[in-house]
Order: sequence, then C-alpha cells, then structure tokens
Amino acid sequence: MQRAEDIIHKEHRNLFSVLNCLRGMARDALAGGKPIDAAILRQAFSYVDKFLNRYHHPKESAHLFAALRKRRPDLGGKLDELDGQHKGLPEKLTVVSEALDRYEADPAGELAAFCEVLEDYCRFELGHMRMEEAEIIPAARDSLTDEDWKAISAAFEDNDDPLFGERQSSELRDLFRALVNEMPAPHGLGNPAR
Ligand SMILES: [Fe+2]
Ligand SMILES: [Fe+2]
Repeated sequence: MQRAEDIIHKEHRNLFSVLNCLRGMARDALAGGKPIDAAILRQAFSYVDKFLNRYHHPKESAHLFAALRKRRPDLGGKLDELDGQHKGLPEKLTVVSEALDRYEADPAGELAAFCEVLEDYCRFELGHMRMEEAEIIPAARDSLTDEDWKAISAAFEDNDDPLFGERQSSELRDLFRALVNEMPAPHGLGNPAR
C-alpha cells in the first residue's frame, strides 16, 4: 500500500469513529439517556474543523484529486462534486455549531432539532468519505504512477507544511485522544452514558 493511501485511510477511520460517537451520543440522549454534553460536542467540532477543514480535505483536493484529474479526465465530474463538498463542509459545520448554541440555551426544547441537524451533518460527511473510499482511492490506486504517489505522500507527511506543522500535528493528536477518552462508553472510552 502506498504511504499516502495508508495515511488517508487512517484519517478516515479516525473521522468515522468520531462521527459514530457523535451519532451514538445523540441517539442515547433522544432515547432519554445521558443528556448531550455540549462541551464534548464543541471539542469534537473543533477536532473536525482543525483536522478536516484545514488539513485533510485541502490536501486531498490539492494533491490526490489534482493528480487523479491528470490521469483520469473521465473522473472530472466526480472530483468536481467532491471538491465542491470540501468547500461547503465548513459552512455545514457552522450550521451544526449554531444548532448546538440553541441546544445549550434550551436543552429540552432544542434536543430533537439539534440531533436532526447533527445527523444530517454526519450522514453528509460519511457519504463524502464513502465516495472517496469506494471510488476515488481505488481509481487512484489503479491509475497513479509511483511518482504521483511520491508527491502525494510527501504532501501528506510534510510536517513543515505551514498549514500543518509539527506543533499542530501533536496538538491534533492530543485533541483526538482527549475526545475519545471523554466520549461516554460504549461510543468512546469515557464513563458510560447511563
Ligand atoms: Fe474529502
Ligand atoms: Fe477524505
């Protein structure tokens, strides 16, 4: 497996875990279990913003997608769609974050509405990732050259990247660990939801 592919899979797995934890927490709260802890949600949104919107998606667009566009012009439409989603996702996160503000102000009255907005966001993000995993990465594996992969791997591993230096990298790892440890079991490793 190419190094960049390995990194992207790992990042998708981490995101998948976070999104599933969020959905599980929302389902528990809707079923009358532990109320949603807004602080944990904010931490999760901060992780998603720092990790996805500032790092993962821009690197996919600038390196993986750009290389694939050259080798597979037939995928242009699909890559346009995914690039469009990359651009639109920060705004979607803002919508969820604003719904969380309303939930915090009125937990009983806004719980159902917040969970619906959160579920929409998670489904959208999961669908995006699914298209990358099912269609884009296999196409890249078949079509990109070793030189292409070398350049993409260098971009994904580059800790001197001004967008994502060594300090941000370790901060992000710490944030992910803290998040998983605070999310209630069985979704995360924290105290059980009930
Ligand atoms: Fe993406
Ligand atoms: Fe991705």
